[in-house]
Amino acid sequence: MIQLGEHGAVLLQAQDVCKTYHLGETSVQALQHVDLEVREGEFLALAGSSGSGKTTLLNLFGCLDRPTSGRILVAGTDVAKLDPDALAEFRAATIGFIFQTFNLFPVLSARENVEYPMLLNKTPAPEREKRAKEALERVGLARFLDHRPDQLSGGQRQRVAIARALVKRPKIIFADEPTANLDKKTAVEVLTLMRDLNSSEKVTFVFSTHDSMILSLASRIFHMSDGRQVAAPETPHAH
Ligand SMILES: Nc1ncnc2c1ncn2[C@@H]1O[C@H](COP(=O)(O)OP(=O)(O)O)[C@@H](O)[C@H]1O
Ligand SMILES: [Mg+2]
Repeated sequence: MIQLGEHGAVLLQAQDVCKTYHLGETSVQALQHVDLEVREGEFLALAGSSGSGKTTLLNLFGCLDRPTSGRILVAGTDVAKLDPDALAEFRAATIGFIFQTFNLFPVLSARENVEYPMLLNKTPAPEREKRAKEALERVGLARFLDHRPDQLSGGQRQRVAIARALVKRPKIIFADEPTANLDKKTAVEVLTLMRDLNSSEKVTFVFSTHDSMILSLASRIFHMSDGRQVAAPETPHAH
């Protein structure tokens, strides 16, 4: 595992968090009494098989949903105490997201996709263009500014999504299975880029995966099963 040196202050806290989804008559306990602290500078992986609660936990930390019980604190703020406007502002200023399916606008160029979050927060056009270009250069896409997503490979699309998350200079980026739609080699390249950004730009990353090769790039692993933290599963012996 990679040693990233000392980590900073506590940035995220889940305190005794439970999340229950109701589906008609039945209910699903997606998270059961989860406690987790993430410090500034970590490159933390949430690991677990499908259905273990990874996306639910990322969505709670990302303020996209609320816990059924327990508390979520982001940068010391109890997000349940923010009204919707304050929450939206806080989220836009503090948090970036990267998704499994990239979530780019198909009709927009790479540059326009990256400019989009700055359009929402009314950054002036020259500043927008400059920052989008810089972010795309930072992820190795200087030659692809005007390409649309369908003119890019999967790995390149995810790099655009990373640039888009980065351009707001968030404290933290959440990435839900960012490599699930990439081949192994590209997956490692994308994760390595995220790790480089983690150390150079001082962005904390929390990502989910069930790929053991990707897990080896994490600074720490939070193993989950059935909505709870579990000990690391034993690795099979090679004979
Ligand atoms: N919106 C939802 N409504 C009902 N059940 C859900 C919803 N989202 C997730 N679940 C259930 O919660 C559990 C955890 O899901 P999830 O957090 O998506 O796990 P993972 O990301 O590890 O695959 C699963 O049993 C899933 O079926
Ligand atoms: Mg998931």
